[in-house]
Amino acid sequence: MRILSGIQPSGRLHIGNYFGMMRPSIELQEKGEAFYFLANYHALTTVHSAKDLRDYTREAAVDFLAAGLDPSKALLFRQSDVPEHTELCWLLSVVTPMGLLERCHSYKDKVAKGIASSSGLFFYPVLMASDILIYNSDLVPVGKDQKQHLEVARDIAIKFNELFGETFRLPAPMIREEVATVPGLDGRKMSKSYNNGLFLSDEEKVFRKKIMGIVTDSSPVESPKPTENSTLLQLYSLAASPEEVAEMESSFRQGGKGYGDYKKRLFETLWNYFAPYRAKRTELLAQPELVDRVLAEGATKARVIAQATLSKAREAMGL
Ligand code: ADP
Ligand code: TRP
Repeated sequence: MRILSGIQPSGRLHIGNYFGMMRPSIELQEKGEAFYFLANYHALTTVHSAKDLRDYTREAAVDFLAAGLDPSKALLFRQSDVPEHTELCWLLSVVTPMGLLERCHSYKDKVAKGIASSSGLFFYPVLMASDILIYNSDLVPVGKDQKQHLEVARDIAIKFNELFGETFRLPAPMIREEVATVPGLDGRKMSKSYNNGLFLSDEEKVFRKKIMGIVTDSSPVESPKPTENSTLLQLYSLAASPEEVAEMESSFRQGGKGYGDYKKRLFETLWNYFAPYRAKRTELLAQPELVDRVLAEGATKARVIAQATLSKAREAMGL
C-alpha cells in the first residue's frame, strides 16, 4: 500500500497540523510505503518572500523528523525537488473541467480571508491531484478541510483513465474524524492564517501565555461550565487520556473551579505531551546536514517513481 501526504510550508506548523495531519501520517509509516512532502510549490500561492519560504520549508522538515518521521521507513522530500509534479499538472489540467475547480470552496475561502487571488491559487487542486496521482497513491491522510481536494483528484483520475486508458490508481482519503478540526485559541479552526495557533516550536513562556489567554465565557468560578463546544476540553482531549477528559468534563458540570485552573492543567498536559518532540528537535537543529541529506535522498527515490508515471501519462496522451 502506498501512502502519500503533503503539507504547505506556508508558516510555522501548529498542533492542528500535528494532530490532523502529521501524527496520523507518521503512524502510517509502519503500514506501507510512505511518501511525505513539503508542498513548497503550493506555498508559493501565499508566500512571496524567498527567505520565508526557505525557512518555513526547513522548519517543517525538522518538525516532521522531530515528530517521529523515520527516514528509513518513509520518504520526506521537497515538492520542488521533483519537478515532474508540475508537468503532470499540465497534462491533468486539459482534462479538468472548469466547473470542478469552480466548485472548490478553498479558493473562495482563501480570497475571502484576504489572500490575493491568482490563477495559481485557483488552479491549486490540479497540482494537488498531480502530487497524489504521480505516485499512484492508495491512501492520503489529511484533515477534513482537504476532503474536497481529494474528490477532485479522484474525478480527474477517472476522467483521464476514461479518455486515455488505465493510467492512474484512484486514491482514497483517510480523514481522522476524532481530530477532524483542532480549534484555535479563539475557538475558530486553528490555522496559520488566523493567528490563533499553538505552534510546535513555541517557547514554554509563549505556549503557556497563549493557553492562559484562550477565549472562554464569563461563567463565575462557582457555577457549572458548558462542556459543549468548549475549546479547553477539545484541546485537552487531544493529549489527555479518556479518563482524564471524563474527569475534567464532570468537574465542568459540577462547577466550583475557575477556567484558570483548567487552563493550567491543559498547559501541563500539552507541554508534557510534546516533550519528546522538543528533545528531538533540539538534536536536529544541531545537525543541519542530516536534514539536507534526508530531503535529498527522499527526492531521489520519489523522482524515480514520478518519472515512470509521468512517462506513462505522456505516452498515453500522444506526447
Ligand atoms: P493552515 O490552515 O494552518 O494553513 P493547512 O491548510 O496548511 O493549515 O493544513 C495542513 C494540514 O493540516 C492539512 O492536512 C489540514 O487538514 C491539517 N490541518 C490544518 N489545520 C488543522 C486543524 N485546525 N485541525 C486539524 N487538522 C488541521
Ligand atoms: N493542500 C494541502 C494542504 O493545504 C497540501 C497538499 C498539497 C497535499 N498536495 C497534497 C496534501 C497532496 C495531500 C496530498 O494541506
